[in-house]
Amino acid sequence: MKWACFITGTDTGVGKTIVTAALAAALVQRGLRVGVMKPAETDCPPEQGREGAHDAQLLRWAARCTAPLELVVPYALPLPLAPALSAEEAGVTIELAEIVRCYRELLETHDVVLVEGAGGLLVPLTAQQTMLDLAVTLELPLLVVARNVLGVINHSCLTVAVASRRTRVLGVVLNHPVPLDESDPAVRRNADALRRWCPVPLYGPLPHLADLSEEALTAAGSRLLSAKLLEGMALDIAEGEGIAAEAAAAAGEGIPTEPLNDAGA
Ligand SMILES: Nc1ncnc2c1ncn2[C@@H]1O[C@H](COP(=O)(O)OP(=O)(O)OP(=O)(O)O)[C@@H](O)[C@H]1O
Ligand SMILES: [Mg+2]
Repeated sequence: MKWACFITGTDTGVGKTIVTAALAAALVQRGLRVGVMKPAETDCPPEQGREGAHDAQLLRWAARCTAPLELVVPYALPLPLAPALSAEEAGVTIELAEIVRCYRELLETHDVVLVEGAGGLLVPLTAQQTMLDLAVTLELPLLVVARNVLGVINHSCLTVAVASRRTRVLGVVLNHPVPLDESDPAVRRNADALRRWCPVPLYGPLPHLADLSEEALTAAGSRLLSAKLLEGMALDIAEGEGIAAEAAAAAGEGIPTEPLNDAGA
């Protein structure tokens, strides 16, 4: 049995890495071999390359994953831009087929693979493909991380609506990147509002963790990791089989990626 999912967010900086790390630590505690992946990480100092990929490094640590950084973060790019733009600036061509190859290798050697996107769902990964295209190509269900602020209902519903057209959405995790402000009425009402208006299960909330130790992440991840969530992550394919062989060909269906490209032209 294998489990995997793609962790996306309503925006950059919403807590995808923390949620992924917490889930990874909780899965490790259950005795599973956890592989992690950040297919394209930006803002990696050029002199450090993959070593400077902070998300990938944090995920690897939380998952106790010893897979080489080349598999965990196939593309480590310098400028803090969307991956497609950061790659263009660096003269790098991001190939979905290469990401698929790394993912398959991780899936072969681990029980679970957690893949963290960059930014939100429609962030351009290549000139033609978005993060959603990548999740669809990898045939992964999505988990959406959302930040508990005013606006989260709209951001979550938009993300779920677009994603649901092309892949399975496991749910939304309501996260607190900053300490809870009880005086903010939106913060108090958002969880109930998401249950009411967002058509997928709500997980969490993941509280603000003052301490990001392995113990704290494991405890927080264990509270998130319900049987339902784990069941949703179960791959209905035999180990590593079934991932679209035609990686690039599978991308681009359903979502109008052209406007993104036109906008950049
Ligand atoms: N629940 C939490 N408790 C404490 N700190 C948090 C929590 N969630 C997020 N943070 C902090 O908020 C910041 C943004 O979180 P994180 O890096 O996980 O976002 P992200 O969605 O992965 O961003 P990116 O798009 O850059 O990958 C980080 O400094 C992180 O440590
Ligand atoms: Mg991150």
